[in-house]
Amino acid sequence: MPYPTTGPATWFVTGTSRGLGLELVKQLLERGDNVAAATRSAERLNAALGSADRSHLLPLEVNLAGEKAVAAAVAAAADRFGAIDVVVNNAGYGFLGAIEEVTDAEARQMFDVQIFGVWNLLRAVLPAFRQSRSGHIINISSILGLTAFPGWGLYCAGKYALEGLTESLAAEVAGFGIKVNLVEPGYTRTDFLRIHSLGLPANTAEGYEAIREMTEAHLAMPGTQLGDPVKAAAAIIRVAVSGTAPLHQLLGSDSYGLAKSHIEALTNDFEAGHELAVTTDIAAK
Ligand SMILES: NC(=O)c1ccc[n+]([C@@H]2O[C@H](COP(=O)([O-])OP(=O)(O)OC[C@H]3O[C@@H](n4cnc5c(N)ncnc54)[C@H](OP(=O)(O)O)[C@@H]3O)[C@@H](O)[C@H]2O)c1
Repeated sequence: MPYPTTGPATWFVTGTSRGLGLELVKQLLERGDNVAAATRSAERLNAALGSADRSHLLPLEVNLAGEKAVAAAVAAAADRFGAIDVVVNNAGYGFLGAIEEVTDAEARQMFDVQIFGVWNLLRAVLPAFRQSRSGHIINISSILGLTAFPGWGLYCAGKYALEGLTESLAAEVAGFGIKVNLVEPGYTRTDFLRIHSLGLPANTAEGYEAIREMTEAHLAMPGTQLGDPVKAAAAIIRVAVSGTAPLHQLLGSDSYGLAKSHIEALTNDFEAGHELAVTTDIAAK
């Protein structure tokens, strides 16, 4: 079934008390859609929503890493609104540190949010989507899910994993009529680079001055990023409503430019290794 055209659609959005998720919730409520809004803090979400009409809102305090908690949240959304039409896996946070500085706990926390949380939500919604042969999953990745930079290793590891999972998913469920998209924003003017959102390593190592300088530069960036979260949220709604967006929907001219450069760099890299690559086939008899 295409995006509901006869009545309000029902959305399940994660990471909703700040930034892109909050803006998405506001715009969806203005449209008259139903929103199940997952957050770690319903109080923060409520305060951030200000005077918005909440009659179509179900705030859900949920730990995304908890499979049962996520399943219960999805059941509560279905109880309140009926079938869910669109899921947006938006919750996420940046982390700036060298690979060797990242502790096991820091790495696992990132994957809890960006991968295991997403997987929990997918397991909870896909059976109903498959049965109804409808539904749309939009996973918020990043340009850093397509190209990597020093200091962003943990974040890139999470987003690259999300890209792989999502590309497989898209191919697996297309036959059930379920749509899947990746959204890959560039720098966007949310709380992402503010100290309450951005993760930093508990332990630092000597010799990574360039990463410390880059971290300082990023902490000074809030308020100057190119991307407009209002336009980005509207673009995410357009991805769902149109149903025609490409699997990889870049957002922002910075994201587009970096993605294109990365394709060129990848091509050059593959060509540089071509001679050796073709030496390992088993020769046909
Ligand atoms: N802003 C950018 O420059 C940028 C660029 C590319 C991609 N992105 C991606 O866009 C998405 C939204 O980020 P944003 O820019 O809106 O940043 P934000 O303003 O910091 O908001 C991030 C949201 O993610 C949730 N979140 C953060 N840490 C979490 C954790 N440990 N566990 C569960 N939820 C957590 C929060 O939800 P609650 O506090 O409500 O639980 C928060 O509302 C993220 O996936 C991010 O990676 C952002």
